Amino acid sequence: MMGENIFRAVFIFCLFSFTKGNIVVDEECLNYTVYPVQYEINIYPHMQVNGFYYDCELIITIIANAPNVREITLDAKDFEIESAGIKVFDGPHNIINTPRPFIFDNRKGKLIIYLREPLKMYSQYNKQFYYIKISFRKFLEEGKQGIFLSKHNDENSETHYSYLFATRLSPYQAKYFFPCFANPRFEAVFKFKVYILKQLNGLPYANTSLVIAEQQRITNDNNYIIIDYKPSPQVCLHQVGFHYSGFVSDRVKSKHTNDTIIIWAPAKELHDYKFIHNYGIMIIDLIHEYAKDNNRPLVQGPINLIPVPGPVSGMYGYEIGSWNLLTDSAHRIVKIDQFTSIQQIENMTFELTQQLCRIWLGNPGEIARTRWKEEWFKEGMATYLAYFFLTQYNYGYQSQERRHLAAYGLRMKHKAMALDWQYTTPALYSFNQSLAIEIPPEYRELVTMKTGAILWMLENWVDSDKFHQALVNYIKSRRGKYISLDSFTTALDQATIDCLHQYFNGSTATRILGSWFRRPGYPVINVQVLRDRQPNAVQLKQRLFNFNRDNRIDTDFLIPISYMVQNNKNCYNCYQPRFTIGAQSYTFSENLNDGWILLNRKGSGYYRVNYDAVTWRLIAKTLKEDMNAIDELNRAQIVNDVFALYVAGDLDVQFAMEILDYLDKERSHIVWESALSGYEMLTTYGAACNMTKYLYKEWEDFMIKKVSPIFTQMTNTQDNKYLPRLFRSNVIQLTCELNYRPCNRHVSTVYREYRNGKNTYFPDCRMSYFYISPNNSTWPLNPIEQEDKWIADEKRGAKNWFYSHISVGEPRPMPIVMSTTEKPVAAVTEKLHADGASSIEYSIMILGIAVFVNVFTRELIEI
Ligand SMILES: *[C@@H]1O[C@H](CO)[C@@H](O)[C@H](O)[C@H]1NC(C)=O
Ligand SMILES: *[C@@H]1O[C@H](CO)[C@@H](O)[C@H](O)[C@H]1NC(C)=O
Ligand SMILES: *[C@@H]1O[C@H](CO)[C@@H](O)[C@H](O)[C@H]1NC(C)=O
Ligand SMILES: *[C@@H]1O[C@H](CO)[C@@H](O)[C@H](O)[C@H]1NC(C)=O
Ligand SMILES: *[C@@H]1O[C@H](CO)[C@@H](O)[C@H](O)[C@H]1NC(C)=O
Ligand SMILES: *[C@@H]1O[C@H](CO)[C@@H](O)[C@H](O)[C@H]1NC(C)=O
Ligand SMILES: *[C@@H]1O[C@H](CO)[C@@H](O)[C@H](O)[C@H]1NC(C)=O
Ligand SMILES: *[C@@H]1O[C@H](CO)[C@@H](O)[C@H](O)[C@H]1NC(C)=O
Ligand SMILES: *[C@@H]1O[C@H](CO)[C@@H](O)[C@H](O)[C@H]1NC(C)=O
Repeated sequence: MMGENIFRAVFIFCLFSFTKGNIVVDEECLNYTVYPVQYEINIYPHMQVNGFYYDCELIITIIANAPNVREITLDAKDFEIESAGIKVFDGPHNIINTPRPFIFDNRKGKLIIYLREPLKMYSQYNKQFYYIKISFRKFLEEGKQGIFLSKHNDENSETHYSYLFATRLSPYQAKYFFPCFANPRFEAVFKFKVYILKQLNGLPYANTSLVIAEQQRITNDNNYIIIDYKPSPQVCLHQVGFHYSGFVSDRVKSKHTNDTIIIWAPAKELHDYKFIHNYGIMIIDLIHEYAKDNNRPLVQGPINLIPVPGPVSGMYGYEIGSWNLLTDSAHRIVKIDQFTSIQQIENMTFELTQQLCRIWLGNPGEIARTRWKEEWFKEGMATYLAYFFLTQYNYGYQSQERRHLAAYGLRMKHKAMALDWQYTTPALYSFNQSLAIEIPPEYRELVTMKTGAILWMLENWVDSDKFHQALVNYIKSRRGKYISLDSFTTALDQATIDCLHQYFNGSTATRILGSWFRRPGYPVINVQVLRDRQPNAVQLKQRLFNFNRDNRIDTDFLIPISYMVQNNKNCYNCYQPRFTIGAQSYTFSENLNDGWILLNRKGSGYYRVNYDAVTWRLIAKTLKEDMNAIDELNRAQIVNDVFALYVAGDLDVQFAMEILDYLDKERSHIVWESALSGYEMLTTYGAACNMTKYLYKEWEDFMIKKVSPIFTQMTNTQDNKYLPRLFRSNVIQLTCELNYRPCNRHVSTVYREYRNGKNTYFPDCRMSYFYISPNNSTWPLNPIEQEDKWIADEKRGAKNWFYSHISVGEPRPMPIVMSTTEKPVAAVTEKLHADGASSIEYSIMILGIAVFVNVFTRELIEI
C-alpha cells in the first residue's frame, strides 16, 4: 500500500524535475539535498484543563537528492521536542549522530538533524528510502499562526466555551503544524491518523476530526478511538489541513453526481449555515450543467465546509489550494437575517463560487489531476467563471437561457482598472511562474479581476456561445494533463477562427490576448470625429491611461473596436467588433449625420474612451433627452469613464458635470454601481485634476443633487428582493458618503426602528451607519457587525486622509452651472432647502470668502 504510493510519488517527482522542467524549477528541486515523499502524521489531540495541545509522531519518508548528505534541515517552529525525540532510519538502523543528534533553532525556525553516515543518493538503480521519525508536542493558543485554537459558546451554557483546533497553512505556515520541508513546490503524500482519547473525565468533548483525505476506518484500543485516513493525493504543504472539534454535520448531494457538501458547525448553529450549504450545491449543479458532464464529479469524496468561529485573524476567505476542507471565518459565511447584510451575502456567494470553480478547474482530489502552468491564469479563470455562475444563479431565480455577465463584468473591470494604472503595476505575464499562493497579496485582486475582465472582453469579441463552448471543450480535453495559456489560446483560435477572421483583420485570439497580458495598465482611446467632410472621418488613437501625468506613453494594445452610432440606419459596422487598432492612429469613414458615435459596445472592452467636445456634447444631450437610446451597460461605462477622465485631468469639471447631469433620472442599478466606483476615484491622491477642498465640495453638492431622487425612491420602498436590497444598500452608501443629511437621518431612523424590532433592513445600511457616526456604536458588536465597522472606519480614514492632504484651493469663478434650466424634482428641492446647509455654503462660496467645509461634520471653518 505504502510502497505503491511512494512509487507514484517518486515517479511524479522525477517527471516534474526532469521532463516538465517548467512546472518545478529544475535547480530548485535538484538543489535540495533531501526530498520528502511521504509524511505520516499520528496526532493525539488533548483538550485539557492544563492546556490545549497535541502530541504527534511524525514519520517522513525521504530520498537523498545529492551525494554525501550528512545533515538534514527541516523547517519547524514552536514545538517541544525531547532530546531522544528524533531518529533517522535506514531500514532497521537508526543512523542519527548520537553525540550530537540535532539542533532546534526555534527563532530561525530550523531543525537540523545530524547523521552518523552519509545518505545514499536515490537513483533508478538504488531506490533507497530513509525515514525520519520525530515525536513532539505542540501547545495551541488562540490567534496564532499555522495551527491555532478557536473558541465558541458552548452548546448548553452561555458561560462556558467549547474549543476547536483549526489550521491555516497557506501560504507558508505548515512549519507551525509539524516539522517539514517548506518548499511550496514539493509534493508528498500525507497519511493522517488521529487518536481520540476515550476517557474524558468531564473535559471539553471533541470527536470530530477532518483532514485533507477521506476516512478509511475507525478502530478502538483501550484508550483511544483511532481514526485512520486514506493516503492523500500528492499535495503541497499549503494544501494540507486539519480540523478537530465537537462539531456536528449535515450533508447535501448534488443532482447529477455523487458530489457532496458537508457543513460542520456546533449543533445549535447548524441551521445558520443552511443558506451557504444549499447555495454551494446549487452552484455545483450549475457547473455540471454548464460542462454538460454529469458523470464526472468535481472531486473524489465530499467537500467539507467549516466555519471557524471567533475573531480569527488572517482568515479572510478560503485557502486557494484547498478542495475538500474549506475553512473560513464563521461570520463570513453565516447567514442570520437579523445581522447579515446583503453585501455580505454577495461576498460570501462570490467567494464560495470562486473556490468551487478553482476545484472544478483542477485540484489534487481529481481522479486524474489537471495542472495549470500559469496559476495566475487559473485564478483569473476561476474569478470569471465565478461571476458567470453567479449570473446564472440569478439570486435564486433561475432561468433556462444563458444570462450575460453585464453588471458583474463591469464590476470586475472597474475593480481591476482601479488598481491597474500605477507606474509600478506589473503585467499579468510577470506572474508566469508564480504559484497562486506566491502572488503578493497586493496584486491578488489585480490578477483575478483583470484576467477575468479580459476574458469577458474576449467573450464579447467572439460569439458568447462559441466562447463558452470552446472553453468547456478545452478544459475537458485537458483533463489529467497540463493547461497553459498558450494551449488555451491555440484551442480558442481554432474554435473561433471564422469570427476572428471576419472581424479582426486576421488577428488571432492568441495575438490579441497576448498584447493585453504582456503589457501592464490599460489604454484610453481618443476619438476625434472630423465632421467637416462627407462621409465623416473617425480618428482613433490610444495611449496609456493614468491618473497622474507620468508615463502617458503611446500604446499598441490590439483593441478590437466595436461601436454604435446615434443615427444607425445604415451602419454596417455597428453591432460587431470590426477592427483591431494597434500603435498607429487609425481613421475610418462613417457617416454620423450630426450624431454621436460610441465606442466600446456593452462596455466590455478593457479600456476607456475620450471623445472630442462636439461628440461629448451630443452624447450628453441624448443622455439628458432620451437616455434609453444608449443601453445601460454603455451608460454605466460612460459614467465611469467621465469620472476617470476628469480625475486624470482630461475633462474639465464643468464638462464632466454636464455629461453626468442626466444622472438624476437614472434608475439603473448597474449605472449607479458604476457611478459609486467612479465617485470614489475622486479621492485618488496626486491625480492630475488638482483636487482642492472647494472642488471636492462642489462635487459633493453636485452628486447630492443627482443621487437624491433615487435615494428618495429607494428608501421609500420596502422591496425585500435581492436586487432591490443590493441597489438600496449601494445608493445609501453613496448618499451617506456624500454627507447628505436626509441620508444620515434615514440611517439613524432605521437603526432606532431596528433596535425596537420594527425594521429588518438595518444590516444593509449598517456600514453607512458606522461611516457617518463612528462613535455611536455603543452596543457590543458581534463579528458580523464588526466587519462592517472595520470597512467603514477604513473608508472614512482614507477619505479623511485625502481631504487633509489636498489644498483649500479657490472657488471657481463661475458657480455651479447646470447646462439646462430644468429644476430638480420637487421633493428634492424641499429636502435640500430643509437641510439648509447646501445653499448657505454655496452663497459663501460665491462671495469668495475663504472658508472650507469639514467633510464630515459639515461645519464651516473660517481660516
Ligand atoms: C542551492 O545551492 C547553492 C549553491 O550550492 C546554495 O548557495 C543554496 O543555498 C542552495 N539553495 C537551497 C535552497 O538549498
Ligand atoms: C461524536 O459524538 C456525537 C455525540 O456524542 C455522536 O453522535 C457522533 O457519532 C460522534 N462522532 C464520531 C465520529 O464518533
Ligand atoms: C455514487 O455512489 C454510489 C454508491 O457509492 C455508486 O454506486 C454510484 O456509482 C456513484 N455514482 C456516480 C455517478 O459516481
Ligand atoms: C466584499 O468584498 C469586497 C472585495 O473583496 C470588499 O472590498 C468589501 O469590503 C466586502 N464587503 C463586505 C460587506 O464584506
Ligand atoms: C516570466 O516572466 C519573467 C519576468 O517578466 C520573464 O523574464 C520570463 O522570461 C518569463 N518566463 C516565461 C516562461 O515566460
Ligand atoms: C488589416 O490588415 C491589412 C493587411 O495586413 C493592413 O494593411 C491594415 O492596416 C489592417 N487594418 C487594421 C485596422 O489593422
Ligand atoms: C494641475 O496643475 C498643474 C501644475 O500646476 C497644471 O499644469 C495643470 O494644468 C493643472 N490641471 C488641471 C486639470 O487644472
Ligand atoms: C449619534 O449619537 C448622537 C448623540 O448621541 C445623536 O445625536 C446622533 O443622531 C446619532 N447618530 C446616528 C446616526 O444615530
Ligand atoms: C469620535 O471619538 C473620537 C475619540 O473619542 C473623537 O476624536 C472624534 O472626534 C469623534 N468623532 C465624532 C464624529 O464625533
